[in-house]
Amino acid sequence: TVGKSTNILWHECPVGKVERQKLLRQKGCVIWITGLSGSGKSTLACALSRELHYRGHLTYILDGDNVRHGLNRDLSFNGEDRAENIRRVGEVAKLFADAGLICIASLISPYRKERDACRAMLSDSSFIEVFLNIPLEVCEARDPKGLYKLARAGKIKGFTGVDDPYESPLGCEIVIQQMDGKCPTPKAMAEQIISFLDKNG
Ligand code: PPS
Repeated sequence: TVGKSTNILWHECPVGKVERQKLLRQKGCVIWITGLSGSGKSTLACALSRELHYRGHLTYILDGDNVRHGLNRDLSFNGEDRAENIRRVGEVAKLFADAGLICIASLISPYRKERDACRAMLSDSSFIEVFLNIPLEVCEARDPKGLYKLARAGKIKGFTGVDDPYESPLGCEIVIQQMDGKCPTPKAMAEQIISFLDKNG
């Protein structure tokens, strides 16, 4: 989107990201979880938040469903609104990372272009994209909210994976997938992400 605000100047404060990070003893970053509806993004976000919290880290979850109850309540699921949904969550995640938090964003975020735009808002090492690569058949069999059923019956139009696109990440930091036809437990998935964070400082 093109900015419409004019005559605005950035204001710096002497208490900045570096000072906040020192106080919190952690580096602010964004962990962006993308995947189909029913892939387990929210469950993973919760498990990750819990594991990091136990280790003494301050986290905050921005969940697609939840953010759409407030900040993004004016957005639908058409292409333009999904793009705006992703952009806004990216901007808010950036603020949380700047505040020094480990911000976990979990939303379908089906478009590569918009996810990449969020990545571009942050420094390289502070945007960690996690692809929860659970096949459509598995997500549909789970159907925790009964939405796939409604979409197949034509009662929901433009449902991701059914009659709306999902563009898998090409070069993301972490891919989580089934092993021998089984999904890893939420704790195991969280540990896979934490081990990446440990290795990358
Ligand atoms: S997006 O695509 O990133 O803007 O979606 P997101 O903000 O993550 O919201 C996804 C949740 O909205 C519900 N829902 C739909 N999902 C996909 N397509 C359509 N048309 C749709 N309508 C409603 C659904 O509960 C999603 O939740 P999750 O947790 O992903 O299953």
